[in-house]
Amino acid sequence: MMEDMSRCSQHRKRQPCPECRKLRNQKIGPDRKDVTVAAVVAIGKNRELGKGGKLLWHIPDDLKRFKAITKGHPVIMGRKTFESILGYLGKPLPERTNIVVTREPSTARRRLAVPGVVVVGSLEEALEKGRALDAEEVHIGGGAQIYEQALPHIDKLYLTLVDDAPEADTFFPPYEKEFTKKVFEEEREWNGIKYRWVDLER
Ligand SMILES: NC(=O)c1ccc[n+]([C@@H]2O[C@H](COP(=O)([O-])OP(=O)(O)OC[C@H]3O[C@@H](n4cnc5c(N)ncnc54)[C@H](OP(=O)(O)O)[C@@H]3O)[C@@H](O)[C@H]2O)c1
Repeated sequence: MMEDMSRCSQHRKRQPCPECRKLRNQKIGPDRKDVTVAAVVAIGKNRELGKGGKLLWHIPDDLKRFKAITKGHPVIMGRKTFESILGYLGKPLPERTNIVVTREPSTARRRLAVPGVVVVGSLEEALEKGRALDAEEVHIGGGAQIYEQALPHIDKLYLTLVDDAPEADTFFPPYEKEFTKKVFEEEREWNGIKYRWVDLER
């Protein structure tokens, strides 16, 4: 077992190795445990994520899967994704703490002060808050800016790979080289749209 991150023999990689991540996790927050950080995300053939602040697909079974996986766990999301959820649902994601990341937390706290919502000023603060709330799993709920910054912290990806390439203005970051262990796969189809659920670990 290594004693510090600098002694990690694998640390020449851009991403921390699992041991490094474990150590780093233990350093964040007062009661650190090894919490899984996961992301559930639907992307197209070119990692398309959204357009005009909206989702690209509304596949009912996929929305159910998102709910089933994230329910009961904190979900960290960027301010834009949170506002888009408010637009769709008229309320935060129910039965989950919505942790909203913004560079203007005091203004946002006044505007978004709703039960079930925690507003924070950085991704690090969001992860710390999430880990303090849930000893098992914390979710990264997007969008593009937050997925990109959170990727080094993510242990597991619950992907929906949609066989489609719509016009998009936001994209999921490249993940293929780092997430190489497939732990689940299921092919699906809805209204002529083919898609696959693929769960990947590092
Ligand atoms: N396909 C999917 O599964 C999926 C899932 C989620 C979202 N989406 C889509 O993704 C799109 C939104 O993504 P986006 O990249 O435009 O926005 P986003 O990541 O949801 O939010 C961006 C905002 O987060 C805050 N932020 C980002 N980095 C920060 C940091 N380091 N510290 C503090 N605050 C930070 C800033 O808020 P302030 O401007 O308030 O400072 C920034 O404007 C939408 O189209 C949405 O529908 C798709």
